[in-house]
Amino acid sequence: MSSIDVARARRETPGCENVVHLNNAGAGLMPDVVLATMVEHLELEARIGGYEAAAREHDRVEVVYDSVARLLGCSRDEVAIVENATRAWDMAFYSFDFQPGDRILTCGAEYASNYIALLQVARRTGAVVRVVADDETGQVSLGALEAELDRGARLVSLVHVPSQGGLVQPAAGVGRLCRAAGVPLLLDACQSVGQLPTHVGELRCDMLSATGRKFLRGPRGTGFLYVRKELVEQLEPAFLDLHAAEWVGRDTFTIRGDARRFENWETSYATKLGLGAAVDYALGWGLGPIAERVQGLAASLRSQLQALPGVEVRDRGVEMCGIVTFTVEGVAAQEVVALLSADGVNVSLVPASYSLLDLGSRGLDSVVRSSVHYYNTDEELHRLTDIVARATG
Ligand SMILES: Cc1ncc(COP(=O)(O)O)c(C=O)c1O
Repeated sequence: MSSIDVARARRETPGCENVVHLNNAGAGLMPDVVLATMVEHLELEARIGGYEAAAREHDRVEVVYDSVARLLGCSRDEVAIVENATRAWDMAFYSFDFQPGDRILTCGAEYASNYIALLQVARRTGAVVRVVADDETGQVSLGALEAELDRGARLVSLVHVPSQGGLVQPAAGVGRLCRAAGVPLLLDACQSVGQLPTHVGELRCDMLSATGRKFLRGPRGTGFLYVRKELVEQLEPAFLDLHAAEWVGRDTFTIRGDARRFENWETSYATKLGLGAAVDYALGWGLGPIAERVQGLAASLRSQLQALPGVEVRDRGVEMCGIVTFTVEGVAAQEVVALLSADGVNVSLVPASYSLLDLGSRGLDSVVRSSVHYYNTDEELHRLTDIVARATG
């Protein structure tokens, strides 16, 4: 039995009255407190002015850094708050001064935006991208990674939970190997924050990027980056502004010493405060209880779907999370998504181009992605499987 009070969670989530929301890997439903926090700040901006509202709420905005730091188990100086997970990841990645021949290791589940950046940097600098093999379960092979690290590497990029499936990568194991080899690990935790514990000390990552809108249930247009203190000053952001740096003389500038060097000056204070409210709300439930309920619901959904003739669950790995992907024989994934949507059930489509190495190598052009959260119910899962069963018949 999970310790989550599901009735309370649903009461505090207005969207639960309108939809069966199984698209938390797209964007989770915001709880009341997140919405109210943002509306309150927008109203204040309208009443007294945007700069004046930011000044009045300065202390509350600062507390958002403490909240994110608590979520990640790091210090507030190691946190940058930006517009989305991609920008967070890019700000870390493009800070590396790659040289010809530098080896960048990644995995088969890598996310499209990250892989495109890897390819661009390889083309520009002569660095080399190596994809570490998966093991037979579909997660990155720690043995193969160790062998690749032995040959030298400048950076390891790992997606903790990929967009396109239920897999949870053995991130702590990867982190342990990277630490032993002295190679920095950039962890894309976009799909794991808010549904699994993501303490950077336990994961042993050096940088972590994440978004606010998915399992954290924050507003769209929010993301954050963690950079380990020892690394912050070694990484010069690819671009700077007067917030990240200070113009101190005609020909000189200094870059700030904390992780906010990866931010830019202009930002949405309303969504930043909303992000803080979402993080506090998640911490209020506890990431342990959230993970337990999410993983229980997802396991139940997988077994219900697997029992349907013509339906194939496509998730791989040893540990799995709240993302449940499947295909239906003879029915295009897009059509399944449309059928569910017509009946008030939100899921999403993941085309192979989101993760070409993974879905492409499995011969899948797309999958249906359902993704549960702790506020979902067994009845909602049955609603999905009933509709899918009709589609197969
Ligand atoms: C694994 C993964 N990384 C990164 C991203 C990009 O996140 P954002 O849209 O916040 O930039 C996504 C988005 O779906 C994702 O699934």
